[in-house]
Amino acid sequence: MSVLFVGSELFPYVKTGGLGDVMAALPRAIRAQGVDVRLLVPAYPSIHSAVDILGEAASFPDLMGGGPARILRAEAPGLPLYLLDQPTFFDRPGGPYGHPEDLATRFAALAWAAAHLGRVGDVDGWRPDVLHGHDWQTGLMPAYVAYGDGPRPATVMTIHNIAFQGRFQASILGDLWLPRHALTPEGVEFHGDICFLKAGLKLADRLTTVSPTYAQEIQHAGGHGLEGLLAHRKESLYGIINGIDKAVWNPAKDPNLVSRYDLKHPGRRLPNRPDFQRRMGLHEDPNAPLFAAVSRLDPLKGLDLVLDNVDHLVSSGAQLAVLGTGDPHAEGAFLQAAQRHPGRVAVFIGYDEALAHRVFSAADVFLVPSRQEPCGLTQLYAQAYGVLPLVRRTGGLADTVVGVSPETLADGTATGFTFDTANGLALGDAINRALALFRDPPAWRRVQRRGMARDFGWEGPARAYLDMYGTIPAKGV
Ligand code: ADP
Ligand code: GLC
Repeated sequence: MSVLFVGSELFPYVKTGGLGDVMAALPRAIRAQGVDVRLLVPAYPSIHSAVDILGEAASFPDLMGGGPARILRAEAPGLPLYLLDQPTFFDRPGGPYGHPEDLATRFAALAWAAAHLGRVGDVDGWRPDVLHGHDWQTGLMPAYVAYGDGPRPATVMTIHNIAFQGRFQASILGDLWLPRHALTPEGVEFHGDICFLKAGLKLADRLTTVSPTYAQEIQHAGGHGLEGLLAHRKESLYGIINGIDKAVWNPAKDPNLVSRYDLKHPGRRLPNRPDFQRRMGLHEDPNAPLFAAVSRLDPLKGLDLVLDNVDHLVSSGAQLAVLGTGDPHAEGAFLQAAQRHPGRVAVFIGYDEALAHRVFSAADVFLVPSRQEPCGLTQLYAQAYGVLPLVRRTGGLADTVVGVSPETLADGTATGFTFDTANGLALGDAINRALALFRDPPAWRRVQRRGMARDFGWEGPARAYLDMYGTIPAKGV
């Protein structure tokens, strides 16, 4: 079987969140199961300059009005790639989602190029059996397959975050190389607009999302308007939890840490803490419980609930370290909190991969108070690194963190703390439960060890994706 993954991010070259991590790890994990998975991504300069370019797979005099384009064959370590090389759209500063003026056309170009590989194949005759798109940026891919001619590969759409849908005015339909009859509720139309994600969810053979609980939530109140469509397609919708890439997120091998450690050598974790405190400008207090967050500052991530609890944390003797970027209002509020509590609250506004690794090696409690969380990766990294996650019970957070309770402490299954209501009081209550357990070091260590011993590898999820591919009926061409 052969599969073409298509998406807008790829760690370590282009990443704004978990999508980049998944696009790097999941295709490699499926390859390890014997499937020929390749990946198509835009030829952003950070990718183009870093991978081996092997040749040209296809070329077009113009693609979606963005001028000449080529599909290049390339190779990242352990992963065959196709790069959509279209300089007007992709070779410029501004990040993957800047330049709103051509957001629709350039991701339509990516989706069209994927459909081309699926229908025509590359110069060497490689043609995938399955086109597997990720998030709204690839939502039109099943539409180009459905409305074009020639062979029809199977199509799969994975939802990493249903809040982002790619909605544009219907008047641009022609710019997207779609026929007029695509603009119907059966096609790409959604409340009078064009909606990329809706098109994919309507037209793809199979739909997946990144946790079982989120797969339920998006059929109900969490569907951001797409719940009806998803409930209608529930037989084709799979919730498959994400894994973690053990080559990148492993405290025993992590080159970013001053001291590497594992379950057998937990004492080796300790030197990471004063080093981290020094770097962040926190007092080198060995006893203060250290709470931390690493997150996009987006309202759905619920970091405002942490802001509500800053004074409570400090007056309880805790420290807080936050690494994040996004909403300018939230950035300002966190910086002010750090000014109010020098040495006890430290905030780094920006994106820093190495610092993120160090947070996990140093903190005691990792805060993920998300209003919605399709899967979430940081609570998995936290458990692997011996930090107790404190999460709101939603989406993938509910599926991957076992909250401390008398029962879960007794049966040894607890790995963190959970709360339900999305407000500061409920988070404060969970913080108090964490502080109480922190005062009982043997119990704390049991919960910590349980998290570190869990296997969040990609092998299980990769097999679940294979099973899902296996349910797609073979197509006539
Ligand atoms: P999302 O994709 O919604 O942002 P995830 O938990 O799936 O949430 O993934 C977030 C990823 O981005 C993790 O790998 C996390 O470490 C990383 N990350 C988020 N913010 C930052 C930051 N400011 N600096 C470094 N890494 C970050
Ligand atoms: C999205 C989600 C996050 C998920 C990630 C990878 O960005 O917000 O919960 O972990 O995609 O699937």
